[in-house]
Amino acid sequence: MPLPSSTPHSTPAASDPGRRTFVKTIASAGLGIALAATTRAADPATSGAKRTRYAIVGTGSRHQMYQDAIEKTYAAYAELVALCDTNPGRLELARKRSTKNGAAQVPAGYLAADFAKMVAETKPNVVIVTTVDSFHHEYIIRALEAGCDVVTEKPMTNTPERCQAVLDACQRTGRHCRVTFNYRYSPPRTQVKDILMSGEIGDVLSVDFHWLLNTFHGADYFRRWHSQKKFSNGLMLHKATHHFDLVNWWLGAMPVAVSGTGKREFYTPEMAKRLGLASHHERCLTCPEKTKCGFFLDIAASNSLRELYLDHEKHDGYFRDRCVFRPEIDIEDTMNVLVKYDTGATMTYSLNAFNAWEGYQIAFNGTKGRLEHSAVESIYVNGTDSVQGGIKTGGITTRVIPLRGAARDFTPWTASGGHGGGDKVMLDDLFLPTAPADKYLRAADERAGAASLLVGAAANRSFVTGQSVAIADLVKGLGKPVYAPMPSPTAPLPMLEPRRARS
Ligand SMILES: NC(=O)c1ccc[n+]([C@@H]2O[C@H](COP(=O)([O-])OP(=O)(O)OC[C@H]3O[C@@H](n4cnc5c(N)ncnc54)[C@H](O)[C@@H]3O)[C@@H](O)[C@H]2O)c1
Repeated sequence: MPLPSSTPHSTPAASDPGRRTFVKTIASAGLGIALAATTRAADPATSGAKRTRYAIVGTGSRHQMYQDAIEKTYAAYAELVALCDTNPGRLELARKRSTKNGAAQVPAGYLAADFAKMVAETKPNVVIVTTVDSFHHEYIIRALEAGCDVVTEKPMTNTPERCQAVLDACQRTGRHCRVTFNYRYSPPRTQVKDILMSGEIGDVLSVDFHWLLNTFHGADYFRRWHSQKKFSNGLMLHKATHHFDLVNWWLGAMPVAVSGTGKREFYTPEMAKRLGLASHHERCLTCPEKTKCGFFLDIAASNSLRELYLDHEKHDGYFRDRCVFRPEIDIEDTMNVLVKYDTGATMTYSLNAFNAWEGYQIAFNGTKGRLEHSAVESIYVNGTDSVQGGIKTGGITTRVIPLRGAARDFTPWTASGGHGGGDKVMLDDLFLPTAPADKYLRAADERAGAASLLVGAAANRSFVTGQSVAIADLVKGLGKPVYAPMPSPTAPLPMLEPRRARS
């Protein structure tokens, strides 16, 4: 079945058919959701609650972390009052998750067409946005204008125009949009920030950063909605937003200009043939060559993938296991970018989605030395039980090499869980009533969300035009986020030890 053209999963909120169809859809799905919403809004036991009231929009794989956090770890401070999605099946699955979580009350469920009704009836303090990237801005803006605070998954949004609309909405409403850049919270990456802040390598003049996605996790982007720019705007937005944010935050800098090249040469119909297949096909489930294909994903054999996606295809026609060699894929798999920052620093960056291993290598070239840091990640497939961003044992190296003298290796800071332990630290920051003190200033607002996504959007533009793109030409009125103090670019430096002549 072909995908609907407007959204990968279902009818988008803007063009949803309206109240009568909504009730009919809900009734036919046997959900009784509208009734649950009414009951909840009238319940005096919850109306005076001091816990923060949350609603989540987008009940796919990523939302589960937030739902579980609210209903389990932080239940004393938080309650989930509503869930919203275009897919009634996934919506109901999320409501069942509440029961499994032992939540005091199962949240009300609303189809996307009734987002405004959801906000009016369940009165969330905060709306958490975990939908497909291209729809983030719609919900962020509507939630802000309805008087809610917003927590959004990355990327905050994925075009300069949508970014401008979000920045304007923040300005208009006086509210902020929190962007959950969980990579900042990963202990080894926080450690890198700590070393940079300490001044051990001086001020940073340039960065070399290379991110590798392997043929498991990397290939998975080419199966899902991410594979089409109209939903993701490509990996420069969807994936690299994490990386561009890390560098902005690590350096305490704003990007000013971007140029680059991007291409797709591996996940193509031609490559399917070079790899010995007769052709590309529609999807893995029905693939006539599945036994020959090293990219076969068995969606029916995985409980979590079946439960989350296969069982609900009937509602929206979204296939989670589409062929990675399909001709309609229009995102890049090989990207090389050059970024200039307001501190004068420059960065060479690459992202490759068909690599031999997963992880990254980064080097910061400072006025007193070089910081080299790398991470090798374990195999991950979204929506399965594998740990996202999990680090292989011994997979982190962090080393400072002074301009003269011996290198120093650091014992990596560690923690367990998603994204190298970063998810847990971030959730404490998000959901505890008083956020823990944080000298690294890891909480990111809409300015940081914009500063990151605009590098990706500028790179995309440069891929097409071949020209360098100025960030200032993409949006107006973008302020610099508040960063922790970094080493001064004008402070005196110690003279290097003279090289001694040999006798
Ligand atoms: N920070 C991280 O490390 C991380 C990891 C994974 C995903 N994410 C982000 O989380 C978001 C969701 O990703 P996912 O992996 O859960 O995807 P997913 O495909 O599993 O889920 C997306 C959900 O959104 C719903 N949806 C689609 N269009 C909608 C619309 N117009 N209105 C409301 N709901 C709609 C779908 O039905 C689906 O339930 C993305 O923005 C992604 O970038 C972040």
